[in-house]
Amino acid sequence: MKLILLGAPGAGKGTQAEMIRERLKIPAISTGNIIREAIKNGTEAGKKAKIYVESGGLVPDGTVIDMLKERLLMPDCKDGYILDGFPRNVAQAQALDEMGIVIEKVIDIEVADEKIQKRLLGRRVCAACGSSYHLDYKPPGVPDICDKCGGKLVARKDDEPATVLERLKVYHEQTEPLKDYYNAVGKLFVVQGQDEVEDTARLVLAALEA
Ligand code: AP5
Repeated sequence: MKLILLGAPGAGKGTQAEMIRERLKIPAISTGNIIREAIKNGTEAGKKAKIYVESGGLVPDGTVIDMLKERLLMPDCKDGYILDGFPRNVAQAQALDEMGIVIEKVIDIEVADEKIQKRLLGRRVCAACGSSYHLDYKPPGVPDICDKCGGKLVARKDDEPATVLERLKVYHEQTEPLKDYYNAVGKLFVVQGQDEVEDTARLVLAALEA
């Protein structure tokens, strides 16, 4: 099964991708994580991407598409995958089509902008393994320490309030049109993001089974 998770920054794509990954045993591929890893490792692509990520803009299509193509060649992708954060605009969706990739479902998680801002302000991620937490909604067992690997929890640089506003603007302008793109081919399933992660998960699973 090949799936796309669509939604604004902070809508809960990464959180739900993790739940689907465990359930369906297919990899969750986050272009955001791939880009952050490239930045951390100081690769050429990472150096190019850094300025866009830190300002809340989109990394140029060519750079992201090349990174995704490389990831999809890995053997764990042979039985399907969940794309989290890709495509981000119509040109990227067309690139997937041109690669001959047939997506079964696009699950769009809807959350109001005001809630998003609160979620991203409280998000903490593990500096070592990237696992995601929230100070109020998904706190770690021990404050500031990752439950999974013991790494230190930090705020993401692009979760600063001004950068979040820019990311939301970019989302509404460039990513939201993808709802029409996939609705037109009958693949869009809209889920209203709930205040509890488990409640959203139930709706996402219902959409997967629909
Ligand atoms: P990326 O890492 O993809 O960020 P994003 O799309 O902005 O999404 P987030 O990771 O911020 O949020 P999410 O929806 O995964 O929410 P999460 O589950 O963490 O991209 C970062 C940057 O990389 C982009 O800005 C861009 O520059 C670049 N980039 C990436 N892909 C690109 C592409 N294809 N093209 C060009 N550039 C690209 O949840 C958020 C918080 O809320 C967490 O703390 C979580 O615990 C909490 N939470 C989740 N669900 C709930 C709930 N139901 N109730 C309460 N709290 C919840």
